[in-house]
Amino acid sequence: MPMLRGREILLGVTGGIAAYKSVLLCRDLTRRGANVHVVMTKNAMNFVTPLTFQTISGNPVTHELFQLFSGSEIGHVSLADRAHALVVAPATANILGKVANGLADDFLSTMIMATRVPVLFAPAMNVVMWDSPAVQRNLAVLRDAGHHFVGPAAGELACGVEGRGKMADPGQIVEALEMVLTPNDLAGERVLITAGPTIEPIDPVRFVSNHSSGKMGYALARAARRRGAEVRLVSGPTALADPVGVAVTRVETAAEMRDAVLRDAPWSTVIVKAAAVCDWRPSETAAAKIKKRGGAPPALDLEPNPDILEELGRTKRPDQILVGFAAETGDLEVNAKAKLAAKRLDAIVANDVTAPGSGFHADTNAVRMFTADGREVGVPLMDKDRVADRVLGLVAKLRKGSQRQVAGKTPKGGAFWTEG
Ligand code: CTP
Repeated sequence: MPMLRGREILLGVTGGIAAYKSVLLCRDLTRRGANVHVVMTKNAMNFVTPLTFQTISGNPVTHELFQLFSGSEIGHVSLADRAHALVVAPATANILGKVANGLADDFLSTMIMATRVPVLFAPAMNVVMWDSPAVQRNLAVLRDAGHHFVGPAAGELACGVEGRGKMADPGQIVEALEMVLTPNDLAGERVLITAGPTIEPIDPVRFVSNHSSGKMGYALARAARRRGAEVRLVSGPTALADPVGVAVTRVETAAEMRDAVLRDAPWSTVIVKAAAVCDWRPSETAAAKIKKRGGAPPALDLEPNPDILEELGRTKRPDQILVGFAAETGDLEVNAKAKLAAKRLDAIVANDVTAPGSGFHADTNAVRMFTADGREVGVPLMDKDRVADRVLGLVAKLRKGSQRQVAGKTPKGGAFWTEG
């Protein structure tokens, strides 16, 4: 996983039977390219030996408070400074209690107090302990302090009892860690995303539409949420489940999409229009099913739909970042840049829908992004979740650029740097 490659991860292991699963977690993190430094408490060493972690992580294991690292650096400060994140797995009731109450009487608790990096706890304990007022109170304190948690899961516990208290699986801990490491660079943004096709009815059973699956737009909604934004999604008909934590408005026609988008546009600070809006609709929708009996096929008379993106570009506030998509089958750069200018966008994400792996229903995409100030960013073929992250990375950069401009520093280039 690229998210963990090259990352310095501190893995704190405390004294619970789940410590053996931390060995697998350590292996998982190492395999994904992280450089793992393990810190064990005295009690943890009753369950697993430092040698096990040392062999798997390839780094010395720390367990004494005043162990010194290279020269005169104090161990816990040096490690805590270098890391990208600290994971405590398993986290016993004891370590949660110590950290919640400001105790620092061994290497791990001292390091947690001495670090500014995100801390992720994977608690593991007996169900009665987990439910106890003391642990629940400590959890509330730790959450308030901004610490992160994964699990515990329900299941059969080592003490033979069924209930909540089992440490989360290594895979879930890795996933939670990736979330923790995702930059929160869209916090405070209100992001409106459109996705999917529109359908334009001919009669109550037939419609005109396109091949859009909505996958790209839904991936954008999830990614924006992960990066800390508040997200609203306006979606045409798709087979996809609503992304967690995202307010979804379902629509069918371009006219309905326009209404929903214009309603939410004043709320938004960022708008990304990934939907494949039908450019035309039948001029008339028959009230009853058109029967085929006895006649020639009916002629389909079409009229244009409103261009929602063009309307947004005309009416956008200076603080809004507007990103469009361009689905092309040829002359990608010329067509995309023409849309970028005509619709007054800050950026456009262009894809060749005929290229292998880049079509509407594919899980992958390859795009080229062009900005109003003349930059181009190429994104090679990768899954749509990762493409979504690249698009939002560009949005975060555009925002930073407009803030730099507000702060009065030298603008980097053309038109859009003067906004904001
Ligand atoms: N779009 C829109 N409303 C429309 C048509 C398109 O908001 N009626 C938006 C899409 O959501 C996309 C961008 O405009 O972000 C470009 O869509 P695309 O279909 O690639 O281009 P069109 O503007 O429709 O131009 P053409 O069909 O000529 O390629």
